[in-house]
Amino acid sequence: MINSLFRKKNIQKALEEANSAHGTGLKRILTVRDLTFFGIAAIIGAGIFSTIGKASFNGGPAVSLLFVFTAIACVFTALCYAQFASTVPVSGSAYTYAYVSFGELFAWIIGWALILEYAVSNMVVAISWSEYFVSMLDNIFKVHFPRWLAIDFKSAKEAYLTVQSTLDISTLNSTQLSLAKAYEAAPRIGDMPLILNLPAGIITLLVTSLIYVGIKESRNASNILVYIKLGVIFLVIFGGLFYVKVDNWTPFAPNGVDGVLMSVASVFFAFIGFDSVSTTAEECKDPQRDLPKAMIYCLIICTVLYVIITLVLTGMVNYKELGVNDPLAFVFEKVNLNWMAGIISVSAVVAITSALLAYQLGQPRIWMSMSRDGLLPKLFSDIHPKYQTPWFATLVTGLAVGIPSLFFNMQFFIDLTSVGTFFAFILVCAGILYMDHKGLSKTSKFKVPYINGKFLTAILFILAIYLAETKGGGLINSITETPLFLVFWLVFLILVIGSFIYSFSLLPVLGIVSNLYLMVLVNWSNWRMFLIWLSIGLVIYVLYGYKNSKLGKNP
Ligand code: ALA
Repeated sequence: MINSLFRKKNIQKALEEANSAHGTGLKRILTVRDLTFFGIAAIIGAGIFSTIGKASFNGGPAVSLLFVFTAIACVFTALCYAQFASTVPVSGSAYTYAYVSFGELFAWIIGWALILEYAVSNMVVAISWSEYFVSMLDNIFKVHFPRWLAIDFKSAKEAYLTVQSTLDISTLNSTQLSLAKAYEAAPRIGDMPLILNLPAGIITLLVTSLIYVGIKESRNASNILVYIKLGVIFLVIFGGLFYVKVDNWTPFAPNGVDGVLMSVASVFFAFIGFDSVSTTAEECKDPQRDLPKAMIYCLIICTVLYVIITLVLTGMVNYKELGVNDPLAFVFEKVNLNWMAGIISVSAVVAITSALLAYQLGQPRIWMSMSRDGLLPKLFSDIHPKYQTPWFATLVTGLAVGIPSLFFNMQFFIDLTSVGTFFAFILVCAGILYMDHKGLSKTSKFKVPYINGKFLTAILFILAIYLAETKGGGLINSITETPLFLVFWLVFLILVIGSFIYSFSLLPVLGIVSNLYLMVLVNWSNWRMFLIWLSIGLVIYVLYGYKNSKLGKNP
């Protein structure tokens, strides 16, 4: 039993299966430009359009440094993804990579965790879309969409209770007041106010329909949307530069390191997506050559844009004013450029749609791979005879994203997504160590540049301890305050030993260490949710996947 949990997929077999699916299946049409655009479509979304506001509010201008640090962790990970994508270019992304390196149980766990990265993150994107959509209707078209039809119950109720318990409501902000008003205005079923986020549900439905009818249509739509998205970002950067007041950058980190680190989940959320490019591996013209390039290109482009945009936003207005959901439009209202704010909110609506598209496209393709392996029912890999898309998996994704986005709140999903994605990234980096060790990536067209980690990992470990002792309030203290740090130090130590014995490649090791460090900074409550999520996944695996696994039946 234990051995069969770790049964591994053979790389050659994975490639053959993917190729044989092409007779009746997917079309190979994507070029490196399309892939880079898909990456940008997936990366730039709710993170930069919405959550950067609260991140800057908490951390001040120094959040731009968090963007740099997070980007570094992502670059290490992207290199590992790139090596995998050029070794096993099939649609399952990290799921397939885990299957060939760590075996079935880990593959299932990653596939299950990827639902957090794709479907759950798309709930955030759908909700963010709804925010910009409603504010666009309001500001440009002067149409007041009923607020109770564009929010979630929890936020509305919390705001209502806050208003009720506050003596002087002039101390509250306009968002709290409007949410509380919506709570009161909502029609009731019995005592229960009817509150839901209809635009979020509808946009998910529309995007799902587009994906259902074809990859070509999705690609064309995505490419156009990315041009618009980049247009908005450049507009904010170049329009905003003239309004930057250097004074706003001091203090640079008003709430200290803690204030900056509070936003790890949100900043990381903004980077999620470069890896989604790998889910289109079976629709690329030359996946082994183009996937690595596209992943690195889109990550570099987005990092540069993010850092500049954070500096521009925090330079245009004081960080304390940035705690809003539509910061990119807001800063222009603040400098009395309302027409610019208008253009930005219209284009934001268009731009965020492309992020939605990218994840709605990625999720069914991962399920398709899992279903081919027998870990999910067969219907998930059924390809539509006319549209040549995994139609059933696409439909399920639509429902899985659309329905919760009607009812839940953004922050809940951001945290859950980030922990799950860190976990997947760590396993991908670890997978490269394994593949290299076993000599499985000899034929890969792209390899993570090898730097011998034999001694360097140990040196970095000592340096990290030195920094923790001198700048971080002490190693033991950090563990007592945040027990999860113990996991970090233990894993780091294991990597030091492993590197010494096996001469591990340094960059994947740094990928594991940096992702784990960021993951440890995310609240324990989010880890708990993640562990619950994993446990549910394991139950499903035991009840279904383990018994139906193709590898199990036909090793
Ligand atoms: N990176 C994606 C976004 O910010 C998830 O929307």
